[in-house]
Amino acid sequence: MLNGDAHFETLAVHGGMGGLGESGAHVPPIDFSTTNPLPGVESGGESYENLATGHPLADGSSAVYQRLWQPGVARFEESLAALEGAEGAVAFSTGMAALSAVLIAGVRAGTGHVVALRPLYGGTDHVLESGLLGTTVTWCAPTEVRDAIRPDTGLVVLESPANPTLDLVDIAAVVARAGSVPVLVDNTFASPLLQQPVRHGATLVMHSATKFLGGHGDVMGGVVAGPEDWLVRLRQVRALTGGLLHPFAAYLLHRGLRTLPIRVRAQQETAAALAVRLMRHPVVRDVLYPGLPGRDPDGLIGRQVAGPGSILALDLGSFSAAQAFTEACELVTHAVSLGGVDSLVQHPASLTHRPVTADARPGAGIVRLSIGLEHVEDLATDLFRALDAVAAANIRPEMLTKRLLAQ
Ligand SMILES: Cc1ncc(COP(=O)(O)O)c(C=O)c1O
Repeated sequence: MLNGDAHFETLAVHGGMGGLGESGAHVPPIDFSTTNPLPGVESGGESYENLATGHPLADGSSAVYQRLWQPGVARFEESLAALEGAEGAVAFSTGMAALSAVLIAGVRAGTGHVVALRPLYGGTDHVLESGLLGTTVTWCAPTEVRDAIRPDTGLVVLESPANPTLDLVDIAAVVARAGSVPVLVDNTFASPLLQQPVRHGATLVMHSATKFLGGHGDVMGGVVAGPEDWLVRLRQVRALTGGLLHPFAAYLLHRGLRTLPIRVRAQQETAAALAVRLMRHPVVRDVLYPGLPGRDPDGLIGRQVAGPGSILALDLGSFSAAQAFTEACELVTHAVSLGGVDSLVQHPASLTHRPVTADARPGAGIVRLSIGLEHVEDLATDLFRALDAVAAANIRPEMLTKRLLAQ
């Protein structure tokens, strides 16, 4: 039985497991039903009305249709909300579906202007910059938020640590400058283990659950946590636009939460050790990692975020060096995404941040690493061998030129 004082690890293991004992199950069953038998026309209709307008399933009323409410999704939402210290959560098919629901809810309320802090994940930047969902955006620095806000501003959006520079943003300071405008924090990189933005005044927290929450690179999902008035609007958008989480995905994400603390801690420990070692390689111009000296000027580690996390970026100075490094990694897989048990490397300017306008795109020499659960020495061997390959290519520039011309 969970009590209000339970620690994060206990909440992670036991959250969203209510009522299982009575059914004789030890883990949540996966209910694949797309529809639910209804006890009567009137009660079914009332339940439909309630769910389709975004209200939670009322006690004693029946579920109607998977797009409106699903028990495994509700379990995952309950657990994630507890970990974020939020009133509740609404889960979606992907992180982008989660963000889209927030933006649609804002546009519908007549507050479609968004103030956003760069850098953000490239897809988030793209959807805001393109105005695809009817929003308009003002980009600004954290200190400029107050001036950027207009009467029709419905949302301030930020990421911390930001993708892919790993910059930390002072959430409480942005919340103060935003006044009555709600602040949405994309907490994907930190995970709720390291950072709970609601505790720093954010109204909404979102995750690409595809990353640390699932943790194994085998499930896509998104989730927004926040207060009930927002949850009602988000459930309604989900019910009407259909970006719902599949029951099997909900099961995997809920299961992923149970090991989140140990995965994130272990991945962080390895990333912190590698960050220091990678600085010493001569082809590395810079290591972008909040745990390194000078990378946390506002002293947010310890105050806002419990640690520097397990994502880091290397500045290798040029596109050709970044390309040579990425392609020379063997144990570390060249692939987008992050937060899983195996380490990944990617070149943001070519991939995740390709849609970002040229003057805001990450530098061509930047590569992003997501550190997994492999042994630190095996990762160091692979990364240093790949860096040596860059050094060797630089010593013989004609070879590098030949390789580039051959493409
Ligand atoms: C920080 C961040 N936010 C949002 C997203 C989008 O999530 P998804 O790919 O699950 O739609 C991503 C994906 O990489 C991300 O890294």
